[in-house]
Amino acid sequence: MKLNPLIIGDLVAPVPIIQGGMGVGIILSSLAGAVAKEGGIGIISAAHPGYLEPDFETNTIEANLRALKKHIHRAKEISNNGIIGVNIMRAMRHYKEYVNCCIESGADIIISGAGLPVELPELVKDSSIKFAPIVSSLKAAKVLLQRWDKKNLRMPDFIVIEGPKAGGHLGFSPDSLEEGAPSDYSNYDEEVLAILSYVKTFEEKYNRPFPVVFAGGVYDRKDIDHYLALGCSAVQMGTRFVATEECDASLAYKNAYIQASKEDITIVKSPVGLPGRAVENPFMKLRKTEKEQISKCYQCLEKCNPAVTPYCISGALIRAAKGDTENALLFCGSNAYKVDRITTVKELMDELTKD
Ligand SMILES: Cc1cc2nc3c(=O)[nH]c(=O)nc-3n(C[C@H](O)[C@H](O)[C@H](O)COP(=O)(O)O)c2cc1C
Repeated sequence: MKLNPLIIGDLVAPVPIIQGGMGVGIILSSLAGAVAKEGGIGIISAAHPGYLEPDFETNTIEANLRALKKHIHRAKEISNNGIIGVNIMRAMRHYKEYVNCCIESGADIIISGAGLPVELPELVKDSSIKFAPIVSSLKAAKVLLQRWDKKNLRMPDFIVIEGPKAGGHLGFSPDSLEEGAPSDYSNYDEEVLAILSYVKTFEEKYNRPFPVVFAGGVYDRKDIDHYLALGCSAVQMGTRFVATEECDASLAYKNAYIQASKEDITIVKSPVGLPGRAVENPFMKLRKTEKEQISKCYQCLEKCNPAVTPYCISGALIRAAKGDTENALLFCGSNAYKVDRITTVKELMDELTKD
């Protein structure tokens, strides 16, 4: 199948591949800039982008906002003004400040999931930034689009459907994610088709194309062609971009993917209140039975109580990015076990786009 550019209003990405936001510290400006340079869309994660700033421990939110601005500018430079967006999880505190920081720093796009970003149209107001929610079900798509249609007379610029094979937090119940479970998602394509058909109804009403992007388990060109054939305009990929030289995480993180077998990839509970997918390691095994002693709260999530949460997700993800892989949360997609080497973004994008 021929790859067409992804057109989002006045933004044109020559390659219809979005590199999905991956926090903490998996994607900062190096990876996002490299992907956008190759014609895709690079998405920086707003989950603690300032974790390497000298005042991060004492001045967390200011350090994060300063670093986010710096990385947006740097990714723009690396990519010669390519398309750079930011992923902001709805479950995060200071959501509004991150949205404003993206607008003021010249990001092109905000993508927002891990909760329903209902207030996003009001927050971006009439700025030129594009925005997209991440949904995993027709039900979630309906809740958001009906509300925005009625209340804001506005549609998102595109929509990301994230399926059950994705990495990071997942919008599904933990039981249904086990292979062979009574309600497993082996027929998820039907949900994708239902969302595509629902979204089409707004194309007519708003008289403009409404791109739909699929994320979750997209590994190679065959997978890309599959979702384009279903009617999606592009794909969002995470896992494959981790094992690149430009990925901002430590080498140990990338090697954890290379070393992982299929059996090492597991579903974990996250303090966000959603299940997540990760490489099993001693830290996560222990968290099944023993609560972590939390000495510092980074005030990252709106709904997290350090007194009861089994572990501090910020601490666990920061240790992962820094390379303490035995003592961390190693988010990954269901295909991470297929990764067998570290490549460059150019090499990967060439492989994915070659006809
Ligand atoms: C290490 C890792 C961290 C992630 N962090 C986030 C995040 O902070 N916010 C988010 O919306 N999605 C996050 N995701 C999901 C990705 O953006 C992407 O949509 C998903 O991983 C796509 O599936 P794939 O990894 O199979 O390509 C993360 C995924 C991974 C693998």
